[in-house]
Amino acid sequence: MNRKFYVTTPIYYVNDVPHIGHAYTTVAADILARRNRLLGRKVFFLTGTDEHGQKVEKAAAEKGRSPKEHADIMVENFKQLWKKLNVSNDAFIRTTDTEHIKTVQGLMQMLWDGGKIEKRSYSGWYCTPDERFWTEKELVDGNCPDCGRPVEQIHEENYFFLMSKYQGRLITYIEENPSYILPETRRNEVLGFLRNNTLGDLCISRPKQRLSWGIPLPFDEGFVTYVWFDALVNYFSATRYLANPPSPPLSKGGKGGFEWWPASHHLVGKDILTTHAVYWSTMLMALNLPLPENIFAHGWWTVEGRKMSKSLGNVVDPNAMVEKYGVDAFRYFLFREVPFGLDGDFSEEALIRRINTDLANDLGNLLSRFLTMAEKYFGGKINIPTGDTRELNPFATECDDALAPVTYQDDIWEDCRHWSNLKFNVILEHIWKVISAANNHVAQKEPWKLAESNNHQELERVMFNLWNALRLVAVCLFPFMPTTAEKIWKQLGLKSLVDEVRQSISEVNQYPEVFYWEWRPSYPVKVAKGEQLFPRIVVGGIKISLKLDAEVEYKKEKTAMTEQGAEELVSIEDFAKVHLKIGRVLSAERVEKSDKLIKLKVDIGEERQIVAGIGKAYDPEYLIGKEIVVVANLKPAKLMGVESRGMLLAATDDDGKPSILVLDREVKPGARVK
Ligand code: MSP
Repeated sequence: MNRKFYVTTPIYYVNDVPHIGHAYTTVAADILARRNRLLGRKVFFLTGTDEHGQKVEKAAAEKGRSPKEHADIMVENFKQLWKKLNVSNDAFIRTTDTEHIKTVQGLMQMLWDGGKIEKRSYSGWYCTPDERFWTEKELVDGNCPDCGRPVEQIHEENYFFLMSKYQGRLITYIEENPSYILPETRRNEVLGFLRNNTLGDLCISRPKQRLSWGIPLPFDEGFVTYVWFDALVNYFSATRYLANPPSPPLSKGGKGGFEWWPASHHLVGKDILTTHAVYWSTMLMALNLPLPENIFAHGWWTVEGRKMSKSLGNVVDPNAMVEKYGVDAFRYFLFREVPFGLDGDFSEEALIRRINTDLANDLGNLLSRFLTMAEKYFGGKINIPTGDTRELNPFATECDDALAPVTYQDDIWEDCRHWSNLKFNVILEHIWKVISAANNHVAQKEPWKLAESNNHQELERVMFNLWNALRLVAVCLFPFMPTTAEKIWKQLGLKSLVDEVRQSISEVNQYPEVFYWEWRPSYPVKVAKGEQLFPRIVVGGIKISLKLDAEVEYKKEKTAMTEQGAEELVSIEDFAKVHLKIGRVLSAERVEKSDKLIKLKVDIGEERQIVAGIGKAYDPEYLIGKEIVVVANLKPAKLMGVESRGMLLAATDDDGKPSILVLDREVKPGARVK
């Protein structure tokens, strides 16, 4: 269990600002790093920037800067975004770091000395923007097959890494190590490519007069290396000078110190899988270095069904998403919405739906209802039973069954399947099973009834069950939503999630005990309601429906703008005929034999009885004390024989559940809403 864990992201080109694609890989690596730190492993999480090459040289020239000056400015965009996204990288590598440059040169020299690099004259079609050569056959209408731009014929001498020699070895390696390349579909693609094509040698240099912004070859000053040979080596060079403790220098043969290499996971986008699976793997073979444990290729995000591109103006800026929706909601969405490995489509609408249903409704409401009840019934104190175990408590068994496959099952010494396969969405689904189980527990046990009938023992037990379920949810959610997890943890009356997890790793049981139902804090706990975790996002187009029979109807305008024309307009005088007033709920109970209707006594300056069709979404208990909006001058009506004098306002969106309108600060009952 106390193994080291080393995870990397691609190093990003500094010629552009970061977008959702960059954020995606980096947050994925952060989730893995946080999970592994929680388990008490030594973690090295590396990200960084790729700063050499023609594109950067060109972008810098356009701004009248030197390439390094340009990189120094652009790199800040990445560093700041990682802070904003709560990314806990241990190091940030730049390919312009002196130590990195030295490592690249050292490795090149080793390959050159070993006869694994050769100088050859070369001619080919070169695409300058893409910085790569194509063969005549590969061109499309004489242009670059990748970007469609014109190519130029170039003759020059260059240095080649003899990659072709390793084709057979690489095929065998991938065949023998099924989890080397994941997901499986990508592994099969790489294998298919290697089996059906003859691997060429890899051009790894450029003459200095054509490109100066690269790393000089140690054995020929007239050439530089750049992009792939330079960039891929970052994963190795960082372990020599950025890791803690740094691995020993190459000259010592990598012996006699803490060895970070090889990496546990290289996370990359599908477009750069070949460079990692083929170029990097064969480079490592030639250097007699171990291969990484895994290369994982994730899919690409499109935006509302279209490829993301500057020209379409639809590039998603992660900074803006975090500012608008909060960092944890954005992180959650990225990994819940789409299985890691597949392509996915981004839209703010989908993000809002996730926030409102999963985060505000399922999780946020559960926590807030629990805290309200715990404070009301027991002044916030939770009576934690000592003898309670999974086996004796059906609710505990339900939670444990949901979480075991994503926490500790098959996992005493190794990581469990879903984690080692990076099935983030499946892990989140399992956590949500506990949230649903807890919500059902409230509905079934009806704690307010237990309180009414003074069944304290059972009430204490239900409160403990909910407390413990929320605690487990928090600890499992931590890698995905660290701030939210800590907030829940604190509101549950516990000290610090991260500290307690660490302390709960014992010599005997190296898996942290806080992941188990049976874990108990060493001090008495008192819960304290804090700020709401995820306020619901109200979109401009949500319609508030006024309907007499209290069967609140929920309609959502697609967009306020497009439908406005079709809307029946009313004058201000007409609107003034409806008297909307603030009412405080004095009491609430279900109407007999109805699962929809709730009878409310409301203070709107005078006491009123109203009947509302919100029973499937709310417990009567929850409504008591709330300030709501009431239509005061509605003609009285009878619903299932119960008189209703007025109605409350509620809104809904796609999930079909009503959300009652409440105030954001207290107002005197009876106040007019205009
Ligand atoms: N510098 C190289 C990587 C060298 S790694 C030794 C590079 N940089 S990049 O900045 O162009 O791209 C970095 C990553 O962004 C790639 O993993 C790529 O897959 C990812 N993405 C770019 N657009 C993307 C989406 N639309 N969606 C998801 N990821 C995407 O390549």
